[in-house]
Amino acid sequence: MNQFMLFAVIAMLLSLGQGAPPISTRETTSIESFKTHFNDIMALISKEEIQNITYEHLKTDEEFKAAIQYMQSKEWLDLIETIRGKSEWIALKKFLKDTSIDVDVGIKCIERLFENVTLHLEPQIPPPKKSLKLFLIDVEQSLPSMKILNYLQEQVTKGVNFNVLFDRLSSDESRQLVQSVLALPEIKRVLKELADMGVNLLDVLSLMYMHFGWGEMAF
Ligand SMILES: *[C@@H]1O[C@H](CO)[C@@H](O)[C@H](O)[C@H]1NC(C)=O
Ligand SMILES: *[C@@H]1O[C@H](CO)[C@@H](O)[C@H](O)[C@H]1NC(C)=O
Repeated sequence: MNQFMLFAVIAMLLSLGQGAPPISTRETTSIESFKTHFNDIMALISKEEIQNITYEHLKTDEEFKAAIQYMQSKEWLDLIETIRGKSEWIALKKFLKDTSIDVDVGIKCIERLFENVTLHLEPQIPPPKKSLKLFLIDVEQSLPSMKILNYLQEQVTKGVNFNVLFDRLSSDESRQLVQSVLALPEIKRVLKELADMGVNLLDVLSLMYMHFGWGEMAF
């Protein structure tokens, strides 16, 4: 979920880059200052509303329940634990953190959402399909897109230059770190499982490759 948000924000930053202020004001924007902007954006999103959507789907959405049940299984948790220990993943996270994007905070938010969830699944034959699709559609619709866009436009007007952030995210160093993570078999597995659950991060990634001028995604 947070990935979606992140890439949505990146896409917005891209379009805003075109209205960048003149060179003279550019140097004033430091990478560290973006932390404040990310926090401001996160503060616009109602955690309570997302929590409510989650509870609603846990009551009524069998495919969502099946997906959450799978994500609480040992198989999935082991996969995630393995990725967490991989040096490639740790290096990418460090790079993003130095770019003021804290992946761990995002992951913690998602974990907290499901922390105390207990599932009541009726055994079904055949078992229901696992899907996060309807849930994500509801979450996306609840996001205050216009407020976020307005906030970003306001910052650009004030002289904040998002190209600084963009240059770093699209740099060669960044590309190499992303490539190494995508080459991990466990990551390939997670992306495939998520795609089966209606979350196609590969589409989001190829869009990112295109926008960053990284060429075809090797996957
Ligand atoms: C979340 O649900 C509670 C209980 O139904 C309700 O009181 C509250 O207003 C809801 N919050 C949002 C942001 O929708
Ligand atoms: C989950 O339950 C624990 C123990 O009851 C509680 O301390 C914690 O705040 C709960 N977390 C959420 C997100 O509700």
